[in-house]
Amino acid sequence: MIGIFDSGVGGMTVARAVEKVNPSCPIIYYGDLARTPYGSKSPETIIKYSRQNTEFLLSKGAKLIIIACNSASSVASEVLRKEFAVPIFEVITPAVHKVLATSENGRIGVIGTRATIKSDIYNRQIKDGAPDFKVFSQSCPLLVPLVEEGWLDHRETKMIVRRYLHPLKLKKIDTLVLGCTHYPLLSNLIRHRVGKRVKVIDSSEAVALELQQYLEANPDLAAELSCDIASSFYASDVTDAAIATAKRIFGRNIDLIKVDPYC
Ligand code: DGL
Repeated sequence: MIGIFDSGVGGMTVARAVEKVNPSCPIIYYGDLARTPYGSKSPETIIKYSRQNTEFLLSKGAKLIIIACNSASSVASEVLRKEFAVPIFEVITPAVHKVLATSENGRIGVIGTRATIKSDIYNRQIKDGAPDFKVFSQSCPLLVPLVEEGWLDHRETKMIVRRYLHPLKLKKIDTLVLGCTHYPLLSNLIRHRVGKRVKVIDSSEAVALELQQYLEANPDLAAELSCDIASSFYASDVTDAAIATAKRIFGRNIDLIKVDPYC
């Protein structure tokens, strides 16, 4: 089974993308809704939560972990790789690979939470791969609560998206990274705002494709991960808005099981 965690339901965009490309591998999902958002917390706190989430998923039988949260990926992936003996995937490196293969003018916009943007990880990784590229970053702290609230098409959301993206448009970017797993839910709005000429990179799809390639190269692990049981979805809090968002992402009802693994 593939274990996937996020601070909330946004990481389900990754779970959905993984399910599409690896339908024979059941997923155990954990959304830490009781402690969301992660993006405005300190690295120490995000690392602590990420460690606990990983332990929970491993206790449920996960053999591979995907950190479906850019904020946690940016500060906790190295720690988790040192501490746990299973493959740990994160969402940033696959998105950067896609950026490097996509951009023509080398002018990249990155949007994410405060934690992700402050970590500067996209800028550093993109510059490692292409030193001449220019990266323009914008933290968008209001978008995660709007998505968690299900305000995907509200007028207020459109205004906030416009406000965040305007500075990036002025920089003449040709590629925009959705550096938060909640943002694919706003991708129509975002695509409309940046215009057709800007390619939008969805880190959820990028990690799903890299996982698929990894499993093709590691057939023993792929066999170990596949089994005939249904995926399960856990959360440290369950709200009506979360249930509705999960349904929107998967296009079917998702049974969100409430657990409190930290007491
Ligand atoms: N979905 C998470 C991410 O990709 C962020 C949500 C949060 O701030 O908790 O960064």
